[in-house]
Amino acid sequence: MNSYIQEVVEPVQKILISWFKDNGRDLPWRKAYDPYCIWISEIMLQQTQMDRGVEYYTRWMNRFPDIAAVAEAQEDEILKLWEGLGYYARARNLHAAAKQLMAEHEGVMPCNPKELLSLPGIGPYTAGAISSIACNTDISAVDANVIRVYSRIFDIDTPVKESKTKKNIENIAIQLLPAGQARVFNQALMDFGGMICRPRQPLCGECPISSLCRANSRGTVEDRPILDKAKKTLVIEMATGMVEEEGRLFIQQRKSDDIWGGLWEFPGGRLEDGEAAEEAVVREYREETGFTVTVCKKITTVTHFYTRYKVILHCFSCKLGSRSPLPELTAAQQYKWVFPEEIKAYGFPAGHRKLLEYIDANCPELLNDPCR
Ligand code: ADE
Repeated sequence: MNSYIQEVVEPVQKILISWFKDNGRDLPWRKAYDPYCIWISEIMLQQTQMDRGVEYYTRWMNRFPDIAAVAEAQEDEILKLWEGLGYYARARNLHAAAKQLMAEHEGVMPCNPKELLSLPGIGPYTAGAISSIACNTDISAVDANVIRVYSRIFDIDTPVKESKTKKNIENIAIQLLPAGQARVFNQALMDFGGMICRPRQPLCGECPISSLCRANSRGTVEDRPILDKAKKTLVIEMATGMVEEEGRLFIQQRKSDDIWGGLWEFPGGRLEDGEAAEEAVVREYREETGFTVTVCKKITTVTHFYTRYKVILHCFSCKLGSRSPLPELTAAQQYKWVFPEEIKAYGFPAGHRKLLEYIDANCPELLNDPCR
């Protein structure tokens, strides 16, 4: 293997850099290579398709042109801007990191990978990506694209989750990195992995390095990289309900330490064994707020897929019965009674957003009077 690496280092570097110059994506953060912009793009692109990343990136930069603007913002606004991208810890970490940068780095994003690693939400890949792309530091940035490209060029036949394989690929990445050209080379690998050496239906016919690719010559391209067996999707059934009082709807904000921390929702939760969705929503209201509610009618059922879960969310309109003057919150950090026209200002998790979109399209009057 080592001699094969030596054999292909130069041609792979040359061909990929030349391919990138002709075919690389025209992306908004690839103009000035501002470290702040590279940071935001890298965080947004984690678990996110490129088109969507660019859309959210553009909106973000319009609102937060620099680190100080992020640090000064309210978390609610950051989460609202992030709404729909998922993995909200990324947004909370960005906010915390921006505050740390103002306090410890005079609002300047560092180039040094070690300093980058001390910021919330920045791990080895992101530190390598920011440092190389923004500052052209000689450092690799091994993400799923890079793992796939090298697994194929070198026909790596052991599972990429295994630490020995990981180390092997990291080692290859270091050897393949051309000194003084990390910015262009790392981005070339990312684009090449996303556009040619794709996970499914790779474009080997158009690939400029196919003659150097061992998996191509051995017919194993589709089998590389070797991933874990796909884990089964878990199905979770949940129920939620809207209640109204004096023209306003009750919403609550999830506690900051949970996955949807900081986002807003109508109270609700998982169905217990053997429990009907209508019973679950009544129980959840009692447990989470102390409110007694009765179900008026079913609004809809929405489904949403997360990485490992399928959530089926049964949505009801409910009537508020007797209650103590103030809710007794057990699942949330705060609550609000909001007018229907205000609701869009709050960030909701995907299932609730789908419910609100359904209501908007099919029964907007429900927001004024859920039990009409
Ligand atoms: N994927 C993750 N980061 C990327 C970048 N900077 N360019 C293209 N694809 C990427």
